[in-house]
Amino acid sequence: MASCENYSKFECDMLDNKLNLKDELTQVGFDHIPPGPDRDRRISRAQTARRLGSKVPPPYPNGWYAVAESRELKTGGVQAVDVLGQNLCVYRGEDGAARCVDAYCPHLGANLAVGGSVCGNCIECPFHKWRFNEEGACVSVPGVEQAPKGVSIKHWTTSEVDGAVWIWYDAEHREPLWNISDAPELKSWGYRGRNEYIVSAHIQEIPENGADVAHLNAVHSPSLLTSLGEKFPFLYNIIGCHEWSANWSKGEDHTSYITLTHDYKILKYNVLHIDAKITQIGPGNVRLLINWPLGPILISQSVTPLSANLQKVVHRMFSPAYNAPAAAVFVKTEGAMFERDVAIWNSKRFVSAPAYVRTDKTIRAFRSWFSQFYSENSLSFRDAMQNTLEW
Ligand code: FES
Ligand SMILES: [Fe+2]
Repeated sequence: MASCENYSKFECDMLDNKLNLKDELTQVGFDHIPPGPDRDRRISRAQTARRLGSKVPPPYPNGWYAVAESRELKTGGVQAVDVLGQNLCVYRGEDGAARCVDAYCPHLGANLAVGGSVCGNCIECPFHKWRFNEEGACVSVPGVEQAPKGVSIKHWTTSEVDGAVWIWYDAEHREPLWNISDAPELKSWGYRGRNEYIVSAHIQEIPENGADVAHLNAVHSPSLLTSLGEKFPFLYNIIGCHEWSANWSKGEDHTSYITLTHDYKILKYNVLHIDAKITQIGPGNVRLLINWPLGPILISQSVTPLSANLQKVVHRMFSPAYNAPAAAVFVKTEGAMFERDVAIWNSKRFVSAPAYVRTDKTIRAFRSWFSQFYSENSLSFRDAMQNTLEW
């Protein structure tokens, strides 16, 4: 078992004997709040006394969203999932397929995910044992010969891809506008671990980071190996730094692409070159194919809105067997790079009309591309904030 002692800031455990790093909202980006007995209260105030911006886009764009880890949802397993302004019940039927229905039973409102059980491919309510099939229709009621006609719960279209269970969310209640399937590499590559972040920001901010080329060398340049270069700038060249270049382009439809190069330079010598091909698939799904000297790694990123301004971001790592140790290292190092963005997201506000300069042209293009995921009946940010799941 790998040691977790170096990850004291993270909650760290092992999932299927693989590293599983989790970082909560309060753990990143609040270094400016000094230690003291009231620090937690001051962090809480920094979060809630925050302007979120004007003309903020709808919080739940149309698309596929990860709602559960495949490995954690065993056959017959049931999970309560509260995302996208919905209370959901995710379960795995005895045929092995993952399913998702609204949580509340139409009979007297019990939560199917809390004490409910899987029978065949149906979900059974814990309160009076009514059963609902995979389409959400009520199919049996104890003590009654015929289940009441027309009684049903909403079922969500699901797909199981890249180690996660995804649901299709659409404000217009359309069938999926595109389908998702496993990354081709996963036919032979294995799972190597994951990291997970809770980020306070609008969902659009996270994919926009890939089109924001200018931030790369501003935020991601200081060495991951040591923070000495930041404390002692004269050591910067000796310790080395990360240099980045990137190109963002939109595809014909719901996909966009980034080609990214990274060089770790010490005294102008390039000691580590990494190429990445990044594919954004809709609003909440990204694949990063990394090529570095030790072999390829696939990172599958999911971004799922827990509420209007709160995202769960997971990076799942996959690689060929020979590259497994290097991929496991990426769980931590990729997370450390990502954490630099999280520190900014956790305190920023959304700016609807930025003062664009020449180097920001891909941000403008990204926003135009991303707007396809909003539609006429998308819930407004203001309405979502006024009708939160928290009360
Ligand atoms: S509340 Fe679900 S069966 Fe009665
Ligand atoms: Fe970034």
